[in-house]
Parts: sequence; structure tokens; C-alpha cells
Amino acid sequence: MNPSLDPDARAALLEAQMTQDEKLRLVLGFFGVKGGSIFSRGAPPEYQAELRNTAGFIPGIPRLGIPSLVESDAGLGIANSANTRPGDEATALPSGLAMAATWNPDLIFQGGAALGAEARDRGYSVVLAGAMNLARDPRGGRTFEYAGEDPLLAGTIAGAEVAGVQSAHVISTVKHFALNDQETGRRELSAEIGEAEARESDLLAFEIAIERGAPGAVMCAYNRYNGVYSCENPFLLNEVLKRDWKYPGWVLSDWGAVHSTVESANSGLDQESASGFDRQLYFAAPLAQALADGSVAPARLDDMVHRILRTMFVRGLVDNPPTPRLSDIAGHLATAQLEAEDGIVLLRNEGALLPLTSHPRSIAVIGGHADIGVLSGGGSSQVMPIGHSLANEFPVGGPVIVLPGGARAMPLSGHVFDPYSPLVAIETAAPEAHIIYANGEDIAVAVSAAKNADVAIVFALQWMTEGSDVPNLSLPGTQNALIAAVAAANPRTIVVLETGGPVLMPWLANVPAVVEAWYAGNGGGDATANVLFGEVNPSGRLPITFPASEDQLPRPVLPGLDAHGAWFDVDYVEGADVGYRWFEKKNLVPLFPFGFGLSYGSFRIDGAQASGGATIAVSANVTNDGSVEGKETVEAYAVPPGPDEPARLIGWSKIDLAPGETHRVSITADPRLVAQFEVDRDRWHIAKGDYGVRVGTSSQSLGDMMHVTLDEQVLPP
Ligand code: GLC
Repeated sequence: MNPSLDPDARAALLEAQMTQDEKLRLVLGFFGVKGGSIFSRGAPPEYQAELRNTAGFIPGIPRLGIPSLVESDAGLGIANSANTRPGDEATALPSGLAMAATWNPDLIFQGGAALGAEARDRGYSVVLAGAMNLARDPRGGRTFEYAGEDPLLAGTIAGAEVAGVQSAHVISTVKHFALNDQETGRRELSAEIGEAEARESDLLAFEIAIERGAPGAVMCAYNRYNGVYSCENPFLLNEVLKRDWKYPGWVLSDWGAVHSTVESANSGLDQESASGFDRQLYFAAPLAQALADGSVAPARLDDMVHRILRTMFVRGLVDNPPTPRLSDIAGHLATAQLEAEDGIVLLRNEGALLPLTSHPRSIAVIGGHADIGVLSGGGSSQVMPIGHSLANEFPVGGPVIVLPGGARAMPLSGHVFDPYSPLVAIETAAPEAHIIYANGEDIAVAVSAAKNADVAIVFALQWMTEGSDVPNLSLPGTQNALIAAVAAANPRTIVVLETGGPVLMPWLANVPAVVEAWYAGNGGGDATANVLFGEVNPSGRLPITFPASEDQLPRPVLPGLDAHGAWFDVDYVEGADVGYRWFEKKNLVPLFPFGFGLSYGSFRIDGAQASGGATIAVSANVTNDGSVEGKETVEAYAVPPGPDEPARLIGWSKIDLAPGETHRVSITADPRLVAQFEVDRDRWHIAKGDYGVRVGTSSQSLGDMMHVTLDEQVLPP
């Protein structure tokens, strides 16, 4: 208990006092819901009283002052999926993709701090945040939860949120390590990819997030990586994470992702999470047996325990144990709204229809349950938002899962709409306008509402959930027909998309204004209205490519749809060229490119200069030529030497400028972003040569190519 000692020394003092049984206790987690569920055996009776109906629980060791670990999902707010804690509302942050669309790590840190505070205020100790698998397939059911397709952007945003969460003296994770890039067959698939390609993409994203956020734990994934389950994969856990990256924290499994005792322990798994989800207990008696027969060395168990204990000291769980208190909900809601406002992307604005400063006399608001709130994604990250009521929840019409023994499992929760409603926010923004709402189910009714209004605003939804992928990128149901009909009835039609990821827009040419609001969380209704009426000048930029068709994807047909529980491979033929890099390599024109976003102003970038040497540095002037204050994001891309190398993001700068203001931004690249990973020598190699550099406001609107020379360099992995 001497805080002047360093965390490793304090952990070592504790370990010396622990019996083997006490060490084994720290590496075996339980499902945190009292009595368990149809998915998981419950925790042993002696711990039931301590459970908080959260995702996970690891009993502490009171004799030694080691607190229990109460684990809660997730990165979008304190989750309460299926309302296991009835009435426990929490601030619903925007989706992970919306956070990435802000390109604003400082703001995302604030959101993380609010999330961490709401965990701590409940007495929780671990937030299972930092979900950041690269969006290799935009149909992936957790695309909404993750941070897009680019390793630098995803790593930076996830790292910022993790750092924010941990600033509240709770532990955060990053997940799911690694290549858990689709939901279909997530427990059966093997992600097949070369090591260099993985290092330069999904693994680089995690490396950046871990360097920037220092998460206390890393969650290994359900899927296999090159044929070996992630949670017993020595390459991922022992070689990359612990040897190369010198990761000091601990590896905890995903819920039900452990398949062995000896292989897992010796491959680098440090804790079996929610062991009731696994086919059997692996890190209990079987681990004691393995220690007894020598198949797992006692030093391995000591290392597991050390990693957990040192992290508890580092993150303040021992010195500042969380004490339940009321949360600063008003402050957190304000932060959530700022994130939503910064992440909304203006995709189209023909004729400057937006912002609606012309004070329309009448407005038709149509569809998307805009009268009750904004959509959120399903699964373990589901928050029961502030102001939640069952009126905000629609049962999912999907298949009821019937489990062995006949138990029926509806999906975790319905379509939950986060208050507060866009309709009310629009009415507040335009008090003098006559506003009518049509729910969009009857297209004729919607059309007549639109016809008689100055402006029509159609809200369109694409619901996503953990556990399954979306079948295609089309807006479900009759929404495309609704939008087309409304646009035909009123040339001043605006579409507001509340989607988990990219969607196709067959009606685009006939709709003058399109806004991507994502799943915008508790502040989403107000944020959307603020953008529509010009209170906020939109500054979001796409963190993911919007394809023009699914045929443009590396895998036009989602792999594994016909696997039905059998193992299958997903061959990541694109390698490290995820998203916009694939599109460039294949000369494909997307619907909207990575990094794209309009604003109400106009900005000019000029005077760009680049230099080489040890790495690429680029600077440029940005001027707000518009008449309103706004934020511009200057994006820098580099093209390494060599054939067929697509440009990749090497940095950006998002700045706020008053009309007429000029600011010179400067960006310095992390050399690994333009390096090749040399597997045989286990190192990054930056080739000497000519590198192309461009700056601009999206991956497809870049200024002239500049050329710099880099010296040859090698860097540790
Ligand atoms: C889920 C998810 C993981 C979550 C965990 C606990 O299956 O994959 O992201 O943190 O289990 O709910």
C-alpha cells in the first residue's frame, strides 16, 4: 500500500504473499449477471451477492486488499443491453464510427473521460471499450462500434477514448485482438492474411492505440487468425503484443472465446473472462493440474497475476477505489452532443439548401422514428440512454434464437432510440414554422406532407447489431422508395441518414442535401437540428469509404453466409490495402471517398511544403474563405516508392477558423505509416527513395503531388 513504490514493485510484494489458489482466483472471470443467462452459466454462489449485473466479474482477495474487478461494456456508454439493470440509464455517446468521423482525438478523450466517470460513479473498475477492428467489410455488424478503415485514424481515435476512460481511474481495454472484422461466423472463421499485411494494417491500428491510450488490458478475439484461435495464438499474444510491443498489461478473453488451458496459457492469455460462456472452465482446476504436471510453468501464472495487479496499481484501483456517487449527467450529455456535432458529415448540399436559415414556413419531417429519438446499434455495447423508456424501443423482428433445451433468446435488445427526438429539436429550432411529422410507413401520406411543405426532411435508418452482419448496403424496407417519392414531390428535400455504416443511395441525384448523422447518441437529436439550421457548421469527415456498389468490395459476397457453424476461411486478399487503398489500387470510384465531408463555408489550402529525411513533414496554409466560422480538416497522404503503392493517410490537422482567418498547419508522419514490415527480420523498413506527398480535404481531393526523399531506416516492430 506504499504508493511511492512503482507498480511493478507493489505487485511483486503482493504476489509474494499470495497462495496459488489466490493467484488462480485472479485469472478466472465470471459472467457478471446474477444467476447467469441462457448464454452462460452463472458465477459460483459465494460471489452472486457481489455481482452488479454487468458483463463480467473477477472476485478480489480481501485478505490482501485486492479489490474485485467489475467489468462493464463498452465504448459507447455504460452498456445495459437487454436492460439487465432495469432503469439504469447512462449517457449514450455517439457510435464509434461517429467518433472517428470527428477526426478530433481531444474531443474523443473528453467523451472517454465522461464514460470512465460513469463507470467509476457506479463503482465499476473495467470498461470494455476500445473496439477498433478495421472496417474490412462495411456490412460488418459492428461497423458502427468500430473506428473505420484506416489504421492511423482508428488507432488515434480509439487510443484517445481509452486514455479518456482511464483518466477517471478505471481500466480500459482495446478489442478485439485481432482481425475480428466481420460478425458472420465470428467464432468459426479464420482470418487469413500475411504477417506483413496484418502488421501494416489491423495490427498497426492496435499498436497506435496501445501507444496512445496505454489500455490496461487487451481483449483477444473470437475468431481464428491464420488457423489458430486468437486467444491461444502465440504469434498475436506472445510475439506481437508482449515481445515486440512490450505490452505490460493483461490479455483477457472475449466472452466464450477460450478453447484450451495449456495452449491458451502458454500462448499469452492471462485471464479467462466470463468463464460460464466457455464450454468448460479452463483457467480453474485444469490450470492447477497443468501447473502441477509442468505443462504450464508457475512463472507463467505469476506473470498473469503480475500483469493484472500492476495494472490495478497503475490505474489507481487500489489507491483510489471507485466509490459510488451521482454522475455529472448534464456535463456528459453536453460532451456527447459535441461529439455528435463534430462527427456529422455533410455529404451533399446542392444549391446550398442547407443550412435552413431561410426560416421555412412549413417543414415536413418524415420517417426514422424522428419523433422519439435517434437510432443506436445492438449488442453488448447497447446503452439504455438517459431518458430511456420502452416507448423508445422497438422489438427486433428478427429470428428468435432457440438454444439447446428449448430456451428462447430474443436478440439482446430491440432497436433502441436515444432521446431526445430530432422532431422536437427541429420544432425548437424553427418555432414559427408549421411542422408536420409523417412516420414514413405510408408513402402516400409522406408525399402529401412533403408536397405541402417548403422543405421535407426524411430520416433514414440502417440498424446494425453485434452478432450478425447486414445482408447488403441498401437502406432496409421501403426507405429508398420513400425518399425517391418525397424528393419527387418536393425539390427541397433533405435526407438525414442514421446508419451504422455506409449505405447505397439510388436516389442521390434527386436529393439536393444529404447528411450522415450516424448513431448520434443522446445528443444526436439536438446535434442534427443544430447542423440543419446552421447553429453548427458541419465538420465531420468520412472514416470509411461509401462504396457505389457491393461489387466494388474485395469480397462482393460476404464470406461464411453458407457456413452454418462450420469452420471457414476469410482470405483478406486486399492485405493492408483496406478501404480507400483498395479503391485506389483497383481504380474504383466510390460513392463518397474516405476523408470526405462538406461544410457551410469554403476553405482554401495553399502554400503546401513537404520535407523528407528521417520522416515526412508537411505544412500548409488553411484559410476560411467562407462567411461563417468553421472547422477544416487538412489531410496528408503519402505514396511510398515502388510499383502499385496506393496513397495512405500519414496525418491530419483539424482547426477552427473564423471567416478570413488563415492558419498554417504542420503534420509529421509516423515513419511506420510509409514503411514495409520485413517479416524475416521482424522490423519496419523505410526504403530510401522518393515519396509522393499530397494534402487536401479527402482521399480523393488532394493538391499537387510533392516529392521528398527519405533516408533508409529500420525501426523495431
Ligand atoms: C461480447 C463482445 C465483447 C464484449 C463482451 C462482453 O461478445 O464481443 O466486445 O465486451 O462480449 O459483453
